[in-house]
Amino acid sequence: MSDATALAAENLTKRFGGLTAVGGLNFSLRRGDLLSIIGPNGAGKTTLFNLLTGQHPPSDGRVIHEGRDISALAPEQRARLGLGRTFQISKTLTSMTALENVMIGAFLHRGKLAAAAEHAMHILDRVGLARRASVRAGTLTLSERRRLEIARALALDCSVLLLDEVMAGLNQREVDDVIGLVRQLHAEGLTVLVIEHNLKVVRAFENRVIVMDFGRMIADGTPDKVLSDPQVVEAYLGKKAE
Ligand SMILES: Nc1ncnc2c1ncn2[C@@H]1O[C@H](COP(=O)(O)OP(=O)(O)OP(=O)(O)O)[C@@H](O)[C@H]1O
Ligand SMILES: [Mg+2]
Repeated sequence: MSDATALAAENLTKRFGGLTAVGGLNFSLRRGDLLSIIGPNGAGKTTLFNLLTGQHPPSDGRVIHEGRDISALAPEQRARLGLGRTFQISKTLTSMTALENVMIGAFLHRGKLAAAAEHAMHILDRVGLARRASVRAGTLTLSERRRLEIARALALDCSVLLLDEVMAGLNQREVDDVIGLVRQLHAEGLTVLVIEHNLKVVRAFENRVIVMDFGRMIADGTPDKVLSDPQVVEAYLGKKAE
């Protein structure tokens, strides 16, 4: 079963009025794949995640999870199926403790308080936040908050993890730490999609990269191949250098 399709986009399209934020995207991921998604600001990366996890219904096309069309399912239903994500704008509840934040997710599959707390504690340990469990989330460092976001997704027992710029604003050491965490989760069998602006991170993962520009996929391949593609250099690096 290791080559089973975990998640696929078929002609996936989202229009906002006259703007095509995501246009006719096709890709397929097997279980255990790690995919990086890059592209300039406004390329449609977050909109793609919103389509995959159900925040937006598609204007056209389909989202396939484990061979089943999930395009019409609500975000909660997709979470139940194993799609976990972080948000570019943090959804951490700052006045609650780290543990309580993760428990909210843990309740999805565990109705009892003690079981949810135990599971949440296990997840915090997995992301390296166990000793911060009783600290209010609002007082965590940025790097710790990003780990907490990942923990919240993991608490849903996700099999596919979508990370929207979890490295943004972190210093190099923190970036390296989070790369280590993502690698560990991938090695444990999760299918991982990473939206990333930092090309060093994309190179570090050494896995498949797709490049988006104006809602379309303009390149798909290894970091070496994709990052030396003239069209990518112009679309992505050119704009960034301005
Ligand atoms: N809910 C919405 N309503 C209208 N337009 C939207 C909406 N969400 C996104 N857009 C537009 O769709 C386009 C793609 O936005 P999106 O946030 O997906 O880009 P992105 O690649 O994630 O950019 P960034 O790197 O800045 O996060 C942009 O032009 C954006 O303004
Ligand atoms: Mg975005």
